[in-house]
Amino acid sequence: MVKNMVKTRTIYQITESQETMEGAGVRLRRAFGQDHPKLDPFLLLDDFGSENPDDYISGFPWHPHRGIETITYILHGKVKHEDSLGNAGVIGQGDVQWMTAGSGIIHQEMPEKAEGLMSGFQLWANLPSSSKMMNPRYQEVKKSEIPEVQIDDKISVKVICGEVKGIKGPVQDIVTEPEYLDITIQPNTIFKHVIKEEHNSFAYVIEGEGFFDEKKKKTVGKQHLIVLENGDEIQITTAESKLRLLLISGKPIREPVAWSGPIVMNTQEELRLAFEEYRDGTFIKND
Ligand code: FE2
Repeated sequence: MVKNMVKTRTIYQITESQETMEGAGVRLRRAFGQDHPKLDPFLLLDDFGSENPDDYISGFPWHPHRGIETITYILHGKVKHEDSLGNAGVIGQGDVQWMTAGSGIIHQEMPEKAEGLMSGFQLWANLPSSSKMMNPRYQEVKKSEIPEVQIDDKISVKVICGEVKGIKGPVQDIVTEPEYLDITIQPNTIFKHVIKEEHNSFAYVIEGEGFFDEKKKKTVGKQHLIVLENGDEIQITTAESKLRLLLISGKPIREPVAWSGPIVMNTQEELRLAFEEYRDGTFIKND
C-alpha cells in the first residue's frame, strides 16, 4: 500500500526587496524583477509605499506593454489610469486591476496625491507564446468584489484570484492558473494551504513576521520575498507577531524569455518588431 504523503514546501530563497526608481521617478521597492525558473510565470513584483507624494506623484506616464499581464493591487491611496482600449478610471483602496496586455496596450498609471500613506503592489505575469498576441483584456475588480474568507477566527484570506475553502476569487480564466491571496494570520497560528505541486509559489511579507516552512528556524519579516520549492502544501506559522502577506503561485511557462522594459516576448526578433511598431504607430492591434 502506498501512503499519500503530503510534501510541504521548503524555502528556496529569502531576499529583501531593494529600493529602486521607476516610471518618471517613482521611488519603490522591487521584490524581484528577473526571469527565474523558480518564479516563472512571474517576472516582477514592485512594492510601492510612501507618505511623501514626491516619491510617487510623477507616476508612470504613457508607456506600452506587450506579451504580459500587469496586476495592480492598491492597499492605500488611489491610482488614476487611462489606456488605449479607452478605459479610464481610478484604482482605489483595496481594488485590483488585472490587465492582460496581450498584443499591446498603451497606458498610463498615475498615483494621486494622498493624505498619509499611498501603497500597493504591481506584479507582472508572463504569457505563454500562444497567448502573447491575444486581444488585450482588462479586468477592474473593486474591493467589494474580493471575497474575504475567514478560515477560522485567526486566519483571513482575501481571494483575488484562485480558490480558498471553495470560494473563488473574481479574477478568472487566466492561462497560467495563478493564485493571488492577501492573507492575515494572528499570532501563534498555523496556516496550511494546498498549492498544485508543479506550480511555482512565493510569499511577500507586508506586515509582521512568521515562519515559512516546517523547520521554523528563523522568522521572516516585512519587505522580504520568500521563494518556495515545489510541493503540495505550504505551511506558514506565526509566533508572537501577527503576519500579513501576499501568497502568489502559478503554472510555469518554461519558454525562452526576451525582455526589454515593458515588453516581454520569446525572441529578440519579436522584441525588435514590437519596438519598431511602437515607433511607427502600428503597435496597437485592436481598434
Ligand atoms: Fe504599465
